[in-house]
Amino acid sequence: MKGIILAGGSGTRLYPTTLAITKQLLPIYDKPMILYPLSVLMLAGIREILIIVTSRDIERFKYLFGNGELLGIHIDYKIQKEPNGLAEAFILGDEFIGQDSVSLILGDNIFYGQGFKNILNECMELDSKNGGAITFAYPVKDPNRFGVVEFDDDFNVLSLEEKPENPKSNYALTGLYFYDNNVIDIAKSLKPSKRGELEITDVNLTYLKNGKLKTKALGRGFTWLDTGTPESMCEASNFVSTIENRQNYKIACLEEIAYYNGWIDDFILQKSIDKLHKSEYGKYLLDLLKGKNNENK
Ligand code: DAU
Repeated sequence: MKGIILAGGSGTRLYPTTLAITKQLLPIYDKPMILYPLSVLMLAGIREILIIVTSRDIERFKYLFGNGELLGIHIDYKIQKEPNGLAEAFILGDEFIGQDSVSLILGDNIFYGQGFKNILNECMELDSKNGGAITFAYPVKDPNRFGVVEFDDDFNVLSLEEKPENPKSNYALTGLYFYDNNVIDIAKSLKPSKRGELEITDVNLTYLKNGKLKTKALGRGFTWLDTGTPESMCEASNFVSTIENRQNYKIACLEEIAYYNGWIDDFILQKSIDKLHKSEYGKYLLDLLKGKNNENK
C-alpha cells in the first residue's frame, strides 16, 4: 500500500494568512498541520509516501521532511500546477502508485480516537487488484460543506453527493480514502465537474456503482476535524492543546510513531532530538528515548 497526501490547493478561505505560505505548513497548536495526516498514514503502516504540493511550497516541504529518513519512511514530492481537484492525485501519482493499492489523505484533515490503528490495519488488507474502496463517514452539524453519504439501516451506502444544498444525511465523508489500483484508470476517465474539478466524489460513485464501495461510520467517541477556515484551525489547535496538556501524550508525533513501529532506532531518534531539543516537542522525544512515556506504546 502506498500513501498520498494532497497538500496543494490555493487556501483562499484563509487569505491573507495563506498568501505567502500554504496552509498545510501552518501550525495546529505545536506542529505543522501536515504532520497530522502524515501520522495517519504512518499509523496505518505505510512507508512509501508521496506529498503533492504547489511549486511555490515544494522546497519548504522538503526542508521539513527531506526524504523521510529521520522518520524511517520514504517521501517523494510532486507538483500540482493548478488545484484541478482531489482526484488528480491519482493521475499525478500514477507512476508512484505503480501496481499497488493506495491511501489518499487530505493535508488538512485531523483524526483522533482510540482504536484508530486497528481500523487502519483492517484497511491495509485491501487487495491491490479488486479490493474496491474504503471511505469513512462522520456525523457533522453542517453536512452541506462536505461530501455527504446516505446509508440504509445496515450502513450500506445508498447515495453520495458533493456539497449538496439539501443533504440526505448528516454524515460527511472524511478526507481519508483507501483504493485498489483501479483508481488510477477511474481518475483518468473523469471529466471536470461544474466547478471545474476532478471530484473525489465521482471516483467514489464509480466504486459505488460497481458494488465496491465500503464506508465505515466513525462514532461519537471519535474526533475528525478539517482545518480549512480560521475558526476550524483555532478549534483544532485548542483540541490538540487540551488533549496533549491533560495526558502528556502528543498527537501526531511522527518520530514516536516511527520508533514504536520499529522503523527508527535510538541513533536516528537522537538526530531529531539534537535538532529539536529546545522545544517542548524535542523534550518529549528525549523522554521517549529515556523510556519515560512508553505507556503510550
Ligand atoms: O475534508 C473532507 C472533504 O474534503 C470531503 O467531505 C469532500 O468530499 C471533499 O471534496 C473535500 O472537500 P473540501 O471542500 O474540504 O476540499 P478542498 O477543496 O478544501 O481541498 C481539501 C484539501 O486538498 C486542501 O488541503 C487543499 C487540497 N487540494 C485541493 C484541491 C481541490 C489540493 O491539494 N489540490 C486540489 O486540486
